[in-house]
Amino acid sequence: MAGIADLARIHTPLRAPDVDHLIGLVGSWGLLADLCFSDLMLFASMGHPADGEGAERFLVLSQVRPTTGQTLYKTDWIGRVVTDHERPLVARCMSLGEIISGEVPNQELRELVRVLCIPVRRDGRTVAVLTREAASSVGRHTGELERTYVEVFHRFARMIATGEFPFRTLDEWEGDAPRVGDGALLLDGTGRIEFASPNAISALHRLGVHGQLEGNLLGELGLPESAVRSAFGRGVPAYDEMERPGEVTVSMWCLPLLEHGTTTGALALLHDISEVRRRDRLLLSKDATIREIHHRVKNNLQTISSLLRLQARRLEAPEAKAALEESVRRIRSIALVHETLSLEAGDDVPFLEIVRPLVRMVEEGLVSPERPVSVTVVGDAGKLPATMATSLSVVLTELLQNAMDHAFPLGSVHEPSHVELRLGNDGRSVTVLLRDDGVGLPEGFDLEASTGLGLSIVRTLVTTELGGTISMRRGRGDATRPGTVVELVVPLSEDPLDPLAR
Ligand SMILES: Nc1ncnc2c1ncn2[C@@H]1O[C@H](COP(=O)(O)OP(=O)(O)O)[C@@H](O)[C@H]1O
Ligand SMILES: [Mg+2]
Repeated sequence: MAGIADLARIHTPLRAPDVDHLIGLVGSWGLLADLCFSDLMLFASMGHPADGEGAERFLVLSQVRPTTGQTLYKTDWIGRVVTDHERPLVARCMSLGEIISGEVPNQELRELVRVLCIPVRRDGRTVAVLTREAASSVGRHTGELERTYVEVFHRFARMIATGEFPFRTLDEWEGDAPRVGDGALLLDGTGRIEFASPNAISALHRLGVHGQLEGNLLGELGLPESAVRSAFGRGVPAYDEMERPGEVTVSMWCLPLLEHGTTTGALALLHDISEVRRRDRLLLSKDATIREIHHRVKNNLQTISSLLRLQARRLEAPEAKAALEESVRRIRSIALVHETLSLEAGDDVPFLEIVRPLVRMVEEGLVSPERPVSVTVVGDAGKLPATMATSLSVVLTELLQNAMDHAFPLGSVHEPSHVELRLGNDGRSVTVLLRDDGVGLPEGFDLEASTGLGLSIVRTLVTTELGGTISMRRGRGDATRPGTVVELVVPLSEDPLDPLAR
């Protein structure tokens, strides 16, 4: 279904500011449909056919049904074209620029429809016609609530005809506009409550306001008055929240009712948002709890790695020492992911923020004056799901460690050496390219047949855990320093909850 902006742009001669005005109207007219218990439609002229002959045609730009009453139209009218013969009232309203009413036959219902045509005016011109469509058989709204709502609707209708509605400042409603079903207070020209709907009375009860409402100012009932003051003082809608701390929160939109620039009253729309606020608070605390847990996991992992390091210091055998040091680095690389998760809200981690300290960790442990290796990081892998980031950081630790240990064996390197880590993420997969300019892979090296613990871990994590691929090949350097290139490609799963998608 085409949106109002496209319909207007393609099929009508309306100009952009006029279309914006209509978008604003449609953005807040749910309220109007509720107030008059009727369907509303918005017609724009498509002009006469090019030859100047024939009927003027009108396009239905938008339609809204009331939540307070029954709709007349089960079918969608948006995008339909009618002629001035079918809708003579719309045509007359368009040319007169005045509110008119009458009846038209409705094929769908085979009965007459009472139509009120309201010219939508902007800058002294009629840019569209808004119609209220009600069945002739219904509409004897006799209750006080119905009469009051319809009366307020007519006040808004006059504001539409003078260009005072929609309000210019209602951008913040953003499809979240309040509707009258949530409770409404009608205030008179002095700001005193003239009428309170049953839902409004209940909402105020929950706030602890009991007793007579009619005839009182909000301030006299102990309620905040700033929104009312803005609505009356500046003639613009204003928002406020009323709270019974920790229990009930009620939001209030105060809409001025204007007559040629003067505020003659206001409609205050109430909405109990306690549940929303409670959930917000809960989410906030849940988020804080999750981060706290990551923080504790990180601390525990750091404790474990410290204990292992103490153990390593007491060992004599260099091989055993080295094995424990490797384990320390593996554990610390996982701790880095939890540290990042303890700082960020949400489940995704900016991978670069893990890679940098990880590189530093390997450098601290393995780079020395006898082994002058510099590591550069190029590119970015973006934000990755926590589980993927954890596996990848362990994999990177192994690969960086191998580059140090095997590409640049102690004593073999005298000139400055380099390791380049290149990261990429094209939205479908993450690529990691690790390139060193070291002594190269041993003769007859076969990744699949390699039995070392490090590459076994890498293979398991990359292929089984992450569903990716890994390749290791000789670099392009000279015979003494050919170097090694390791390439990983890891798919980003479409749906992280669906293991089959990985
Ligand atoms: N960047 C590299 N340059 C040269 N050889 C490498 C490199 N990475 C891995 N290797 C070779 O792969 C072997 C297996 O590595 P790995 O599984 O990590 O075990 P370990 O590091 O304990 O020897 C290494 O012993 C080494 O021969
Ligand atoms: Mg290794």
